[in-house]
Amino acid sequence: MKDILTAPFMVEMIRITANMYDHGWDERNGGNISLLLEEEELAEYLDLSALIRTIPTGFRAPELCGKYFLVTGTGKYFKNVQYAPDVNLGIVRITDEGESTELLWGFSDGGKFTSEFPAHMMSHVARLSIDPENRVVMHCHPSNILAMTFVPTLDEREFTRTLWQMCTECLVVFPDGVNVLPWMLCGTNEIGVVTAEKMKTARIVVWAQHGIYGAGKDLDEAFGLIETVEKGAEIYMKIAHLPRINTITDEMMHEIEGGFKVKAREGYLD
Ligand code: 13P
Ligand code: ZN
Repeated sequence: MKDILTAPFMVEMIRITANMYDHGWDERNGGNISLLLEEEELAEYLDLSALIRTIPTGFRAPELCGKYFLVTGTGKYFKNVQYAPDVNLGIVRITDEGESTELLWGFSDGGKFTSEFPAHMMSHVARLSIDPENRVVMHCHPSNILAMTFVPTLDEREFTRTLWQMCTECLVVFPDGVNVLPWMLCGTNEIGVVTAEKMKTARIVVWAQHGIYGAGKDLDEAFGLIETVEKGAEIYMKIAHLPRINTITDEMMHEIEGGFKVKAREGYLD
């Protein structure tokens, strides 16, 4: 059996949590990540019949039964993952129609997966139904996107268009736009259900006055998506109080569509 700390998915998870902390996106225990693993890749590193304990989920997700996830722990600090991965991360197998999990590695201090597990797992179901390649759901608290939810309307078309206007690459990176949820209590099944519903039409869901969710086929893609949205929000927060003389017009965005072979979300451009 190979050392699990050398597994590419583990190395990448440790690097990305440190990087996200360094970006200022994950103060204290802010943020959480879940990464869908393949049984074959995991079997090289773990005895999949050796379960440590079971952890109930409190929701149903039969679509995920038998699937494996590497996931961050609740109350754990991203800055600490690199120093104690086995305490701050865990690997679980989903069982009982999604109502329970079997812990196979990690959470070695008796901990459990993130309180946002409902939003993560329900979002995986939603994204996999659109894109079978999707592997990652990532949540964090970048300052500018959070600040931006206090300023313009939360109308999804307007919010998305504002971000697209902030830098040329925004439309290229997230042509499917940004979905937005009004403030809701986090850590609940209810916010999980509505987040997953929003994930069916965009890979980014903003939680007003809280943070952001991104989904992708790997950690880099989810990170890059959030990074680009956050850059757009940063530009917006720098210019929101200034008269806007120039902008990226809809005409220019149609040019971007042609040049980069992307298609803006239906009805979002004039
Ligand atoms: P956890 O520590 O439970 O992952 O919660 C952090 C967070 O960002 C809640 O939205
Ligand atoms: Zn959060």
